[in-house]
Amino acid sequence: MSFPSTLIDQHGRVVRDLRISVTPRCNFRCTYCDPLGMGHKDPLGTVSVHDVANVVEAAVGLGMTSVRFTGGEPLLRKELPEMIAHAKGAGVEDIAITTNATLLKRRLPELLDAGLGRVNISLDAVDEDVFKRATGGGGSKPVWESIEELLARGLHPVKLNAVVMRGVNDSEITKLAALTETLPLHVRFIEYMHLNNADSEQYQKSFVPGREIRALVEEKFGNLETVPTDPSAPARLFKVSGWQGAVGFINPVSEPFCGACSRMRLTSDAKLRPCLLNDREFDLRPALLHPEPVAAIQETFLVAAHRKVASGITTPTQRPRTMVAIGG
Ligand code: 5AD
Ligand code: SF4
Repeated sequence: MSFPSTLIDQHGRVVRDLRISVTPRCNFRCTYCDPLGMGHKDPLGTVSVHDVANVVEAAVGLGMTSVRFTGGEPLLRKELPEMIAHAKGAGVEDIAITTNATLLKRRLPELLDAGLGRVNISLDAVDEDVFKRATGGGGSKPVWESIEELLARGLHPVKLNAVVMRGVNDSEITKLAALTETLPLHVRFIEYMHLNNADSEQYQKSFVPGREIRALVEEKFGNLETVPTDPSAPARLFKVSGWQGAVGFINPVSEPFCGACSRMRLTSDAKLRPCLLNDREFDLRPALLHPEPVAAIQETFLVAAHRKVASGITTPTQRPRTMVAIGG
């Protein structure tokens, strides 16, 4: 079988970006995410280095250009540098991770040597008590040490992601935005998605629309100036005039960006998931065990792309799988 050199889904969108969840475990317990704690071992069936290598090779063969490793917390996988090095060797142009950055500082040199290009950090609060509450007991000191290390190494822009939940960290919105006055950070506020099987009334109460977050920032710091960005990127970026960094808004619930979606996900238990907000998945195990795994994986990619829905479900719905095993 010959494969196309570009993966195009059934709605004509080019699939360029692969997000790989390498573990459902995490050393934090953010409520919006619902991870398995640190006490757990990776469940049987968690993707191996070899599996990830084959999937990345298949993706590159289909013209995909960017790979992001996520979790859970991807740095809990000691083999992460190996996975990155393989992706680099396979020709992936853009290699990124999404991490809570607690374990990042010490491991940054080996990750960069392996070919890591970009880092997104989850940071939901500046205030230590709020941070602790938002992360289920975590401390922000090691996170800040990692951010400083990234800045010192000139890895600009360092992107920080904050999921805003009413009654949890909405008091932190202006404090997070204020970080961009003197630091070249992109602080991106993300609307809370119903991906944790929360009670739907509780979810509605906790949800804060992006326009409300923006209004709070503008009320405090004045009108925001638009920073031009790639229109297909989910974040809209702005800046307070004269400040070093930028603030961004990612509004998947109130302003879905499915029309420009270029993503496909690999879950930590080896399912291809075409859409974050749709539960349709394609088991890759048979392909991973195939004597010619790369071709078999590519076939599964084609099937999955053909069944990628036009848009996901943002209203509260019970899902068989919560965020942590899907990958951020
Ligand atoms: N809603 C929005 N974003 C989420 N993330 C995880 N769960 C959710 C959710 N329910 C994002 C966060 C985190 C990354 C790992 O995934 O931005 O930084
Ligand atoms: Fe861990 Fe990230 Fe989930 Fe928080 S959002 S629990 S840091 S994986």
